[in-house]
Amino acid sequence: MAALLLLLLLLGAGAAAGCGYQSCPPTRPGLLNVHLVPHTHDDVGWLKTVDQYFYGVRNSVQRAGVRYILDSVVASLVAEPSRRFVYAEVAFLARWWAQQDQATRQRVRQLVHEGRLELVGGGWCMSDEAAAHYGPALEQLALGRRFLRRELGGCGAPRVAWQIDPFGHARQLAAIFAQMGYDGLFVGRVDHQDKARRQELRRMELIWRASTSLRPPAADIFTGILPNVYNPPDGFCWDQLCSDPPVVDGDTVENNVDTIVSSFLKVAHSQAEHYRTNHILMTMGSDFHYENAHLWFSNMDQLIAHVNARQANGSRVHVLYSTPSCYLQELNRANLSWSVKTDDFFPYADGPHQFWTGYFTSRPALKRYERLSYNFLQICSQLEAVAGAAAREGPYGSGDSSVLREAVAVLQHHDAVSGTAKQDVTDDYARQLAGGWQRCQVLVANALAALSGSKPDFVFCDALNVSVCALSEAAARFSVIVYNPLGRRLSWPLRLPVSGAAYAVLDAQGRPVPSEVVPVSNVTRWLRGGAGAARELLFQASVPPLGFSTFSVSRLRRGEPPRPPKPTPRLSPPREIRNEHVRVLFDPVTGLLEQIENLDAGVSLPVLQSFYWYNASTGNSESSQASGAYIFRPNSSDPSPVSSSKGVSTYLVQNSLVQELHQNFSSWCSQVVRLRAGQPYLELEWTVGPIPVDDGVGKEIISRFETPLRTGSVFYTDSNGRQILERRRNYRPTWDLNQTEPVAGNYYPVNTRIFIKDEKVQLTVLTDRSQGGSSIFDGSLELMVHRRLLCDDNRGVGEPLSEPGATGRGLVVRGRHLVLLEPVASAAERHRPLAQELVVAPYAVLAAGEGSSFSRGRREFSALRTELPPNVHLLTLAAEDDGNVLVRLEHQFERGESVNGSQPVTIDLLSLFSAFSVVSVQELSLGADLPLDAVSRLVWTPDTGPSQSHPSAKLDPRRVRLEPMEIRTFLASVQGGL
Ligand SMILES: *[C@@H]1O[C@H](CO)[C@@H](O)[C@H](O)[C@H]1NC(C)=O
Ligand SMILES: *[C@@H]1O[C@H](CO)[C@@H](O)[C@H](O)[C@H]1NC(C)=O
Ligand SMILES: *[C@@H]1O[C@H](CO)[C@@H](O)[C@H](O)[C@H]1NC(C)=O
Ligand SMILES: [Zn+2]
Repeated sequence: MAALLLLLLLLGAGAAAGCGYQSCPPTRPGLLNVHLVPHTHDDVGWLKTVDQYFYGVRNSVQRAGVRYILDSVVASLVAEPSRRFVYAEVAFLARWWAQQDQATRQRVRQLVHEGRLELVGGGWCMSDEAAAHYGPALEQLALGRRFLRRELGGCGAPRVAWQIDPFGHARQLAAIFAQMGYDGLFVGRVDHQDKARRQELRRMELIWRASTSLRPPAADIFTGILPNVYNPPDGFCWDQLCSDPPVVDGDTVENNVDTIVSSFLKVAHSQAEHYRTNHILMTMGSDFHYENAHLWFSNMDQLIAHVNARQANGSRVHVLYSTPSCYLQELNRANLSWSVKTDDFFPYADGPHQFWTGYFTSRPALKRYERLSYNFLQICSQLEAVAGAAAREGPYGSGDSSVLREAVAVLQHHDAVSGTAKQDVTDDYARQLAGGWQRCQVLVANALAALSGSKPDFVFCDALNVSVCALSEAAARFSVIVYNPLGRRLSWPLRLPVSGAAYAVLDAQGRPVPSEVVPVSNVTRWLRGGAGAARELLFQASVPPLGFSTFSVSRLRRGEPPRPPKPTPRLSPPREIRNEHVRVLFDPVTGLLEQIENLDAGVSLPVLQSFYWYNASTGNSESSQASGAYIFRPNSSDPSPVSSSKGVSTYLVQNSLVQELHQNFSSWCSQVVRLRAGQPYLELEWTVGPIPVDDGVGKEIISRFETPLRTGSVFYTDSNGRQILERRRNYRPTWDLNQTEPVAGNYYPVNTRIFIKDEKVQLTVLTDRSQGGSSIFDGSLELMVHRRLLCDDNRGVGEPLSEPGATGRGLVVRGRHLVLLEPVASAAERHRPLAQELVVAPYAVLAAGEGSSFSRGRREFSALRTELPPNVHLLTLAAEDDGNVLVRLEHQFERGESVNGSQPVTIDLLSLFSAFSVVSVQELSLGADLPLDAVSRLVWTPDTGPSQSHPSAKLDPRRVRLEPMEIRTFLASVQGGL
């Protein structure tokens, strides 16, 4: 050991052997070691599109060109062996890599092998944490990590998670980092009150225990809070984008070495006061820095030389080029015990009136498109695995899932799904998703043709949300193929625009399926701008797990259809709608939702639901802070009702399949309160926009539920769509909160659900995209559905959030809230599977004709031998290039949450699939980039005492056991199939 150390010292820092922790530069035990971490923060789209950033286009908007950054950094590293650099965003690196010759690639591999170029984070992008669902967040990390392993080898595997810019941090994502094998996580943004206190107590570094279900240390991750978000200390910014004085050490009146060294020593000592060891880290870089890397590096070379020269005169500071993992290794060696944190880092505020809680809702249409695209990616990916090569190349052309996978990965970026990019960049994100959809639709068509053994003209109706579909509107006969990506049979509601008055629907076995025809609602008609059919055909499609079923539809009468039945607006609203499970009462005067009854459980609750708007602050005497894309700041805690005091106008649609009360709150806000036959929950389909701003007032629209539940300030929201966290109004678990924004400071990300409860009853609202939500007074909960603002909030995007929409008059957004009223004990059993159904929903493909070629083929198919148990979700089924199949299975309940659901469960992986037979199985890390038994992590000591490490049991693929909240990743080699 001593000999090795000596050798390292002799060879100098640059010549260290081997990558990883072995390659770290030597430090000086008795001194304060300042680890300079040169880095660039390259947003995967923000003020410019991804392509514009990569190529350096539109430098008048922002001077930034990532290809030049990578060129320049590599040259600077090669020029001087002691220099180091870290890089994070694989979306850019992969693109640059594709353009490099073999010699450059070899140089880069060499730098990585020597530990001089370190990959940190290593996802396709640095994902958002509030609006990112765990499914796509996990996949984008895996996508980046697998690229790095493939192209750069084991030394390319990131050991440090690098979330230096996201606007708050989620517990579920931290758990994912831990399970992917990261040794530590560095974050830049935590609440200003939290940070001040942590600095004072030297708790800037801690162990985050990110799961209450997984046994420690499985979901423990060492977490470091950076001193200056991710910027260099003041006065030491030497990029071409900065204007701090460079180090001048020549014989000139400009010589400033003494000043610079003294001020650096001062900064280092004051930073060290907030950290526990004789090591501190300084991030030397910022947004799109290092396009001319020489400026940064030559100044740091000089800084290092002059600061360390002071040691001869008694200075106790040693400064060195380093990386986050080398810094982490020093902390690990310090052998301290660290405080444990179990809550999360939401909401984030960088000042008393600066809560970054607006982006939880910003750009609701993009947030929905992202969620829907992840849904379609799962379908595409599953069919690619199930139908094999026939899915990629087939009668409909070449398809594959990679374009959509990369687009969905890009959308996880902390300025993408967060809604904080400029409008034209947002449009480009949508363009990228659309390109991925096209390739996947070809794949889905090929796969369905191969699996059914027929070759019809498939039609993809992408505008069913506004009831537009040319085929169903015109055709007298057509087929509907419904694919179900979930592991259990589902009854899925279909709603297709049609012109006829009555239809016969037959299932795959030729049995009649009950159907109804209803008029298209006024709101939908107005939304789609006049075009389209007058009616909608409704039926419930029962679809097998991980498979499809075919329904044939034929118009019953020929000739001109009679005029559709017109629903008559009623003078007084109906008192109730009901099905066999739920009864819903309305206020006969106002037309508002008034009470919900769960008839199965015999529980009922008064629930008043209505829409309100907060008046967006444009700044006031307390603070000039305006509400904007990032920040939510209402100018009053009392929102105004959207409807007039007389209530809402309503009309009723009732038939054997559905009961709907249509409520019109205003010319720009409406809702359908819907109960379908057989559904044990209530659906609220809201349509909001264009939000009027002609009065010069920005508006933030909420749907609020008021109940008499005694909730004692407590409510619950999910973390990345998975774990549930308890929230308490005007309270933070880790510090004594000084609440300075009574509404915005109580908003939390609602990725998939929010609920309130008392000892007996739980009211849960599931969302179809990420939104902001809260419980502003006891018994209430609210979700922000849409916002339109007139001011920029001064966090860089430089535009007021006022989406024009297709018409230019303002964006209209439609979405759904699913409302469950359940006894507390059975609530999780209902909302867990329903939330998966919302994220990974069935998808319908239409085909012209009936009795055509399609009906001669296989009309129903399931890739599973049996349904999955109710507590298991098939998170991933994806084809590998070598013909293997990647499978992720997860237990979708938390420990102790449900009597039945929270039981461990065992799956037979070898006989799970009918589409192919599994020959052998290897268990991988969660990132699917290395075998599970090759994962080794640094061991940290919590101040609560060391945790026992649990070696994973030997895998028996016939008995794969899943504990609550566990996700297991397998590489299966398969045979047979198509
Ligand atoms: C060390 O101190 C001496 C005497 O004050 C001074 O001349 C010399 O420049 C100092 N060296 C450094 C590196 O600051
Ligand atoms: C639909 O709109 C038309 C024209 O604006 C109106 O006359 C009719 O009453 C509306 N129908 C319902 C059910 O609101
Ligand atoms: C709470 O914060 C406000 C705004 O910064 C400040 O004026 C007030 O003094 C703080 N109160 C306490 C008790 O710290
Ligand atoms: Zn950023």
